[in-house]
Amino acid sequence: MRRTLCIIGAGGHGKVAAETGLESGKYDEIIFLDKRVEVDKTQANQMLEHWPIVGTPEECTKFSSQTTDYFVAIGVNDTRRKIFSLLKSYKLSIVSLIHPRAYVSKRADVGIGSLICANASLIGFSSIGQGCIINTNASVDHDCQLGDFVHVAPGANVAGGVTIGSGCLLGIGSAVLPNLTVGANTTIAAGATLIKSTASNSIMTGTPAKSLR
Ligand SMILES: CC(C)(COP(=O)(O)OP(=O)(O)OC[C@H]1O[C@@H](n2cnc3c(N)ncnc32)[C@H](O)[C@@H]1OP(=O)(O)O)[C@@H](O)C(=O)NCCC(=O)NCCS
Repeated sequence: MRRTLCIIGAGGHGKVAAETGLESGKYDEIIFLDKRVEVDKTQANQMLEHWPIVGTPEECTKFSSQTTDYFVAIGVNDTRRKIFSLLKSYKLSIVSLIHPRAYVSKRADVGIGSLICANASLIGFSSIGQGCIINTNASVDHDCQLGDFVHVAPGANVAGGVTIGSGCLLGIGSAVLPNLTVGANTTIAAGATLIKSTASNSIMTGTPAKSLR
């Protein structure tokens, strides 16, 4: 039976998710839902050359639940969380997407709706929550615990034993030293190096990272 992957969010992150879904070999067809079709269907379809945008996120229930899996590909953590909750309330089949060239330890746990991109690593005895993104070339080392809707951006490195609260963004190329705790909804700036644990809702920049405001 043909399987369809329905991706919510037709931006750049949606393209990464689509490629990962196709590379996984599990899907025959990719379709997108994006609120921008409400604005202008032609313009929305031009955003993605290869895959059709067939409706808005609110139309997610119109496909066969037997042949369709769903993935929320929205980079903004809070928006991703909201759409994820909507899909869950409809009891749709939300999947995780793992690129075949990612390394995911058999001793690691991956929450549903998470994306692990090409050349990313998730090392043993670590766990990531629901709706997380371990982006291209990012790494999460041993014994880490990431909450829900965390985004580890391309090239960011999380050392062993780190705990990261839900909704955090670890910016491109950032680093978190071993055994630290990062409070929920914190942003670690692109290129920053975190050397001390942080409170929730912080924005940390630079090396060593300091609070921006
Ligand atoms: C840190 C960050 C969140 C700040 O964004 P912002 O609130 O819009 O802040 P601004 O761009 O107005 O910059 C505020 C100050 O922080 C500095 N700053 C911004 N980003 C910085 C960074 N990565 N490292 C060091 N300083 C930075 C700016 O130079 C500015 O300094 P000034 O006040 O002395 O002029 C953002 O720059 C960032 O790094 N985001 C991560 C992006 C990312 O990696 N996304 C993943 C995509 S896949």
